[in-house]
Amino acid sequence: MRLRDKAVVITGAASGIGKAAAIRMAEEGASVLLCDINTKEGELTAEHIQENGGTALFMETDVTDEDSVQQSIQYAYKQWGAINILFNNAGVGGHEKKLHEVAAEEWDQVINTNLKGVFLGIKYVVPYMLEKGKGTIINTSSVLGFKGKKRTGPYNAAKGGLVTLTKNSALEYGRYGIRVNSIGPGVIDTPIVDEWRKDEKKWQIISSANALGRIGKPEEVAEAVLFLASDEASFITGETLMVDGGGLTF
Ligand code: NAI
Repeated sequence: MRLRDKAVVITGAASGIGKAAAIRMAEEGASVLLCDINTKEGELTAEHIQENGGTALFMETDVTDEDSVQQSIQYAYKQWGAINILFNNAGVGGHEKKLHEVAAEEWDQVINTNLKGVFLGIKYVVPYMLEKGKGTIINTSSVLGFKGKKRTGPYNAAKGGLVTLTKNSALEYGRYGIRVNSIGPGVIDTPIVDEWRKDEKKWQIISSANALGRIGKPEEVAEAVLFLASDEASFITGETLMVDGGGLTF
């Protein structure tokens, strides 16, 4: 088991990539705290893991709310006496609009969830990792953190910001035994892309615009997260691992 005796906190764990990572990490022996605003699906996922012999708890968490993030991280520490891995994954897509049409409130919602939420996770988990002199953090960026796309300005800004925030935190904490990396998913089959599915013609193009010519599965992203979280990635930090079927190359 690659994550035996490791305590993990995952945000956005009720669905898609976060859910797949929670299930996969629990299979590898981790104790997992699932954090999400979607209480129903989060609890169901935790129960699913428990029924399959894993260790999992759910805590309702809004990553845009500082107190909520702090409380969830404290809760995990109280349960397991350590937090070895944080997967900062919660995110929203936002509405497709040109920048001059984006309301300031919409900008705030995407930035606060996708970028500030990651900052808050790092802020509150790092003291516990410093105490133990080890830990690893994985942030979910995107192909759209590396290239522009029309009508996704706030999302591009947040995901691009995560790439450099990952480098910054890797530098600040590397000497204290903490590794920080990102993943860069391409188009992955989760509810976040439901808006794009509505236009069948457009969807066919979007969902196959990569070297492999197909959409990715959340389980395929979970494998990359597991790798970065494990000791197998012990000399990797500050990196973003693309999990995009060659989407950025395309
Ligand atoms: P998803 O919609 O299935 O999962 C996102 C989860 O985040 C949901 O469970 C949602 O309830 C939760 N969430 C949203 N706002 C939250 C908040 N304020 N606090 C706590 N939880 C919150 O979508 P998916 O694809 O699993 O997304 C996971 C991450 O992957 C996101 O950061 C997304 O931007 C990123 N991503 C997804 C891609 C895709 O094609 N599916 C591509 C590139 C990146």
